[in-house]
Parts: sequence; C-alpha cells; structure tokens
Amino acid sequence: MENLRVLVLAAGKSTRMKSKYAKVLHQAGGRTLIEHVLEIARHLSCDISVVVGHSADQVKAAVSGVTFIDQKEQLGTGHAVLAAREHFSGYRGDVLVMPGDVPLILESTLEAFVQFHRVGAFTASVLTADIDDPRGYGRIVRRNNNELDSIVEHRDASAEILKIREINSGIYVFNAPALFESLTKIKNDNTQREYYLTDVIGILGKHKQKAGAFKVSSPDEVLGINTRQELATVDRVMRRRKCESLMTDGVTIIDPETVYIDSGVQIGADTVIYPSVQIYGQTVIGEEATIHSFSRISNAKIGVRTIVLEGCIVVDSAIGDDVSIGPYAHLRMGTTLDNSVKVGNFVEIKKSALGAGTKSMHLAYLGDATIGKKVNIGAGVITCNYDGVNKHPTTIEDGAFVGTDSQLIAPVRIGKDAYVAAGSSITEDVPPESLAIARGRQVNKEGWVKARKKK
Ligand code: UD1
Ligand code: CA
Repeated sequence: MENLRVLVLAAGKSTRMKSKYAKVLHQAGGRTLIEHVLEIARHLSCDISVVVGHSADQVKAAVSGVTFIDQKEQLGTGHAVLAAREHFSGYRGDVLVMPGDVPLILESTLEAFVQFHRVGAFTASVLTADIDDPRGYGRIVRRNNNELDSIVEHRDASAEILKIREINSGIYVFNAPALFESLTKIKNDNTQREYYLTDVIGILGKHKQKAGAFKVSSPDEVLGINTRQELATVDRVMRRRKCESLMTDGVTIIDPETVYIDSGVQIGADTVIYPSVQIYGQTVIGEEATIHSFSRISNAKIGVRTIVLEGCIVVDSAIGDDVSIGPYAHLRMGTTLDNSVKVGNFVEIKKSALGAGTKSMHLAYLGDATIGKKVNIGAGVITCNYDGVNKHPTTIEDGAFVGTDSQLIAPVRIGKDAYVAAGSSITEDVPPESLAIARGRQVNKEGWVKARKKK
C-alpha cells in the first residue's frame, strides 16, 4: 500500500515460554511466528523494520530483508517504538505497528484496517476485538459517542474498566510524525514502570487529534502468544485454515482434524489425503495423488496420480508421476524416483535415483545408487555403500535384474540388461547382458543324517 511502512515489535522477553529461544522464533504451521507476520507485512509494504532486544542475535540470524532496530533495554512498547525514531525521520506517511507474535492476522483485515484509518482521517487507529476472556489485555475505553478515548492496561484498570470485553490487539496505524511527537510525552507512571505505546492514544485525544478503533469480527485473528498453550492453539487454527483452503481448491481431506499440513505446502486438485497424515515444509504434491494414513512427507515433490501407501516417510526427495511407494517405505536425502517407479514394503532409499518403471518391491536398502530404467531390484537387495570410512556409489544400468538377497559391494556397476543371481555378493562390475553368480556352490550330502545318528 502507498505511504505505509511496517514496524514490528519483537524485543520483549518471553518469560512464560520458558525457552532459550526468542518467542518469535517458535513455530506454528511449520514457520516461525515472525515469518508469518513478515510475510503479511511484505504484502503491505516494502519498508519493514523490526525492533529487537532480547535474543536479538537469534532473531537477526533468522530473518532477512528487513531493517533491524536495536532496543538495548526493554522499557515498554512505547520505548520500543521510540527506538525506531531515526528510521522514520523525514517520513510523513503512515506506520503500521504490530507485535511479532500475532501470526493469525489476515492480510485482508490489515488492508481494511489501513483503509479505515485513512477514510476516517484518524491520527491513530487501533485494531480491537471483543473477547470472552479479556484478562491481561489492554481495554478499549470509548467515549459516550462511541469514539475511542483511551486504552487502559489490565494491571492499571479499575473494576469498572475490567468489565470491558473489547481489547487492544497491539496492532495500530499511526501518522508517523504525530506518533513520534506524542511518544516524547509518555511517562512510565504505571504499575509496571514501563513506557506504554497505548498512552499515545490518550495524549492525541488531549490534543484534539482523532483516534479510531477498528473491531475485527473474528477474535482468533488477534490471538497473541505468551505461552506454549497459546502456541498450540494458534497452530491448531493455522492447520484448520490450511486444510480449509486446500479443500476449497479441490483437495479431498478425509479427516482434517487429524491431518497436519504446513502453510507452505501445495497440493493439486483431486488429490486425496487420508486421516493422520503429516505434510511439512515446502512439499509440492500434484493432482490426483493419494496419500494414505500415517505417512510423513517433508520438503518433497510428489507427482500426479502417485500413491503413497500407509506409513511412509519421505524427506527431501522428488517423486515422479504414477509412482507407488509403501507401505512402510523410507525415502530420504535427495532421493529421486522417476515416473512409474514402484517401491514396496520396508525399502529404504537414500541419495539415489531410480529410473522410470524400475521396481524395488520388498526389503531393500539402496544408498548412493544410480539406477536406470526398468530395473528389477529383488527382495532383500542391499547396496553396501559404506566401507566404514567412505561412501561409494553403485550404478545399475537400464533393464538389469538384481536377484533376491544380493549384496552389491560398492563401488560397483551392473551393466545394461545384466542379471545378478539370487544370493550373490557382487564385488566386481558385471558386464552388460551377462549373468553374475557370486555365491558358494550348493553341496547335497545324501544319507548324511543317518550317518550322524550311527555315531
Ligand atoms: C500489549 C499492550 C496491550 C495489548 C497487548 C496485546 C501495551 C502497553 N500494552 O500488552 O494493550 O492488549 O499488547 O497483546 O502496549 N516489546 C518490545 N519492547 C519492549 C516491550 C515490548 O519490543 O520494551 C514488544 C514485545 O516483544 C511484544 C510487543 O512489544 O511483541 C508487546 O509487548 P508485551 O509485553 O507482550 O505487551 P502486553 O503486556 O502483552
Ligand atoms: Ca503480549
């Protein structure tokens, strides 16, 4: 939006989280709280600054593309905004001030809020909500004609004011010069000995400047986080929102209550998600795919019509179209499966590529392997990729057939269309179109049992 800058307050200490980590770095919906807030902020403005103090180094390391403002001592929200005065010097537009821990606020709400501020020609506007349990929040005090009068902190409120259910969300729009002018006048004569940003509202009123209060209809949006319980509540709301938006876009989610899908995940239409599925990070799933119960998929790409059966774990991997994996397959660290691959029960694949139409249906470990098209990997095949010191590659060319229970001792290459006999320990390359048998020959000793009994 034109003439709008955003200032995020994130310097406060998060005592009640009982954490080594800055509050805004805790995650909900698979992203840190501050990332959620900044994503919305970026849609509204290209000038974003963040006030940091407690655990400032952690926050600075985790966030980019913003201006950091150091608040050395945390003397209150008014003091925090004042720390940013330099950054706003000479700027005459509006500033949207928000805490770093209100990740559920919607962009559309903030847009409507800024419009409200501008249409009403207010010097300051505050976003409010009616909530059932307003304990701890600042209360919105309105005058007889319903205009905003002041904001009174819970701790400083009279019994009469404590009855007010309309609360301050901590999100404001100010005319920047008026804000910094008023901030020089606030005092810390309150129970917490802090400089309250909220006092600006009362000060502006005394100087005959108009302040407005914009009430949101869904109080969920202004939920802030002070405790782990509130973090869980916010996470639940995010998950529900994510499932709803996916369903709106044509994804079938059989039981949204049990499904965990991060905000950053994309899923194509007509894909079906069974109960108790977890899909995290930047995962992208194509159309008409099916993800069965108890699978966990993280930062993966999954093609169209692909079926992930029960209990699979897929991490940092790319799967093509019409693939079937599982039940109980484990794909990790840069595995790629081309179209129409089939991976079955108890197959673990690491840093390997399987070409189109290749099958590994039962009990295998494939690590550091490059496997061509239409290869058959028998049950129990293992690439012995680690010699105790180094990892070595295995190459299996198109059309090869690796018999059951074979060990491929890397580095090794199985040539095109070659066969490896079941139970082989392959230590040397197998030329194309040949058969390798590498196992002890069977000896049958007839009459052996009777002979032993006689002894
Ligand atoms: C504040 C509001 C209260 C409102 C509530 C909404 C004031 C005085 N009160 O109270 O009316 O209902 O938010 O959640 O503003 N911060 C700093 N530096 C500081 C102090 C705080 O950056 O010195 C940051 C915090 O990291 C946080 C935000 O400001 O992101 C709000 O601070 P907090 O202490 O949580 O204020 P509340 O007591 O919740
Ligand atoms: Ca708070």
